[in-house]
Amino acid sequence: MTTTVPAATATATHPAVDRPTVDHPTVDRPGADLDELIRRDPGAHRVLTGDRPTGPLHLGHYFGTLQNRVRLQRLGTEMFVVVADYQVITDRDVADRLAEHTENLVLDYLAAGLDPDRATIFAHSAVPALNQLLLPFLSLVSVAELGRNPTVKDEIAHSGQSVVNGLMFTYPVHQAADILFCKANVVPVGQDQLPHLEVARTVARRFNERYPHLDGTGVFPRPDALLSAAPMLLGTDGGKMSKSRGNAVALSATADATARLIRGARTDTDRRITYEPAARPEVSSLVLLAALCQDRAPELVAEEIGDGGAAALKRTVTEAVNERFGPMRARREELAADRGYVRQVLRDGAERANAVADATLAEVRAVMGSV
Ligand code: TRP
Repeated sequence: MTTTVPAATATATHPAVDRPTVDHPTVDRPGADLDELIRRDPGAHRVLTGDRPTGPLHLGHYFGTLQNRVRLQRLGTEMFVVVADYQVITDRDVADRLAEHTENLVLDYLAAGLDPDRATIFAHSAVPALNQLLLPFLSLVSVAELGRNPTVKDEIAHSGQSVVNGLMFTYPVHQAADILFCKANVVPVGQDQLPHLEVARTVARRFNERYPHLDGTGVFPRPDALLSAAPMLLGTDGGKMSKSRGNAVALSATADATARLIRGARTDTDRRITYEPAARPEVSSLVLLAALCQDRAPELVAEEIGDGGAAALKRTVTEAVNERFGPMRARREELAADRGYVRQVLRDGAERANAVADATLAEVRAVMGSV
């Protein structure tokens, strides 16, 4: 069972966080229903999402999450987007080229259509009060629970590191702070992030139980996952599309680089192009990419190419990608010419995020009796 946190109370004790009026902020809701609820009442929802600044975002990110963020923003939902720079050092010793990656990530966001006047884009290292929430939150989870997190286990297995650092183990709790500092009640995520969202929900529930307001209400809402509906795109090598595997078409790639990457993509020997994701994953992923770019059904794209073979398929995909992303890339280049602007976006975002985080931390300290 969940406890209900009336938004009115949260607002009364918490003036700087201008929480929307929500009559059911902590009820468990499945993804499809949640989407419907957001469309019906965008003002009652606050979204938090984010990415690690480790390299350029690619087309998989765009169709998997970025496009959905822009859609939510257009609906009028309030949105916070965290550039998770502290998360970068969970699996590497140095945060290599962090400032550059951070600015490039913001450029990707802006080019894709996130509007800094409507979405608060910030780096979490720039928001001290957010990070301070980690301390009380860590006291609410057991070491055994941290050790069981399947996403963390997976990352540890894949990192190839002989030594696992403490932040790797605890970062899901840090991520709970990312979500809860602004009292977000909607977190758009992929399947792999669900265990982390569960941690955030657990932390919220336990905090509210252990440290209720005097009237019995809790400080934090229980955030819900908004699962992405987009099917998964494979990389050009047929594996998972990933920044680090060199198999991804970056949002910011040139038309030529896009053509080169797609020309090198793995296909199969059957000349007839079909959309059969299970039987022909590589060919189907290319078909899907063209279809997503053209807002069409993949079956239709496949049928049009028919017996044209891999060469025709790749021509279609390249044209579709370059056409769809051309305007975004042009806009990105314009924005990139003015680094001062990108930095200003981050400064403004940090200022807004700090105001919200300071207010939440003050509330947390008050219910914990720290003041
Ligand atoms: N862990 C996420 C990723 O690797 C990034 C992230 C950080 C995040 N904090 C978050 C996502 C909070 C959702 C909510 O992509």
